[in-house]
Amino acid sequence: KRVAVIYGGWSSERPVSLSSGQQMAAAARKAGYDVTEIDVTRELASQLAEAEPDVVLNGLHGPWGEDGCVQGLLEVMGLPYSHSGVLASALAMDKLKSKAVYRSAGLDVAADKRVTRAEAAAAHALPPPYVVKPVNEGSSFGVLIVREGANGPPHELTGPNWRYGDYLMAEEYIPGRELTVAVLGDRALAVTEITTLRDYYDFDAKYAAGGSRHVIPADLPAKVTEAAMDAALLAHRALGCRGATRSDFRYDEQKDRLVILETNTQPGMTPTSLVPEQAAHMGMSFEDLVAWMIEDASC
Ligand code: DAL
Ligand code: MG
Repeated sequence: KRVAVIYGGWSSERPVSLSSGQQMAAAARKAGYDVTEIDVTRELASQLAEAEPDVVLNGLHGPWGEDGCVQGLLEVMGLPYSHSGVLASALAMDKLKSKAVYRSAGLDVAADKRVTRAEAAAAHALPPPYVVKPVNEGSSFGVLIVREGANGPPHELTGPNWRYGDYLMAEEYIPGRELTVAVLGDRALAVTEITTLRDYYDFDAKYAAGGSRHVIPADLPAKVTEAAMDAALLAHRALGCRGATRSDFRYDEQKDRLVILETNTQPGMTPTSLVPEQAAHMGMSFEDLVAWMIEDASC
């Protein structure tokens, strides 16, 4: 089979995608596929036409690659591709729309409010503590935490360096443990707890060496583990996802409250990323996981 691995692109998460994509390409080659690597540009249609793949393995993260845009192009070109389709990708990438879907599926979510950058900068959008997030970003880009007792709204929003636009969400801050669950097709794999010495699981905690520790399986009461696996599967299905996804949660022990934050339809895919780690925990090598994604592709 000829496989085009698409990665890179021009979202904030480009460096993460280069890493995911190149390592998936190496694994696909090892698994015996005929692989072309494509660092995605605005000419993606011609890049694909030249590669003439049977299947496209999507290694993109963030806007355009994870939000349904590239998926739409692949549909139009009639090329089977890995991971979720157009609608599920678009819904999952939008943190407000995905939460509406979670709510209607009966999942617990944090209270939120849509705000513009000007509104969020002018006054507290919610009573502190709360979080301000761009609605359409990944890897914690642009996430601001407003602590209890904070004097005013986050000053980052007023500076010239703000790169994450106007479409923001203020969200109730949920204290507690950071959990994540991968879903492959119709199966939730495991629960990982992420611990970090940093304030929260921010970009550096995610990607710097030693920035975080993953505990798999998470040391939790069996009923919490089960609830997190059920919730991840329910979220995957409610959004209409396909292939691999990873849903992120916070578990507030004091209130025994499990809150879903988001579902990633293009989860990080370096061999030490969370989804490959859970697959390995279930006895599936990185190479097998990549091969599974290729065989699962459709359009
Ligand atoms: N957005 C990053 C790649 C993740 O969710 O794994
Ligand atoms: Mg994300």
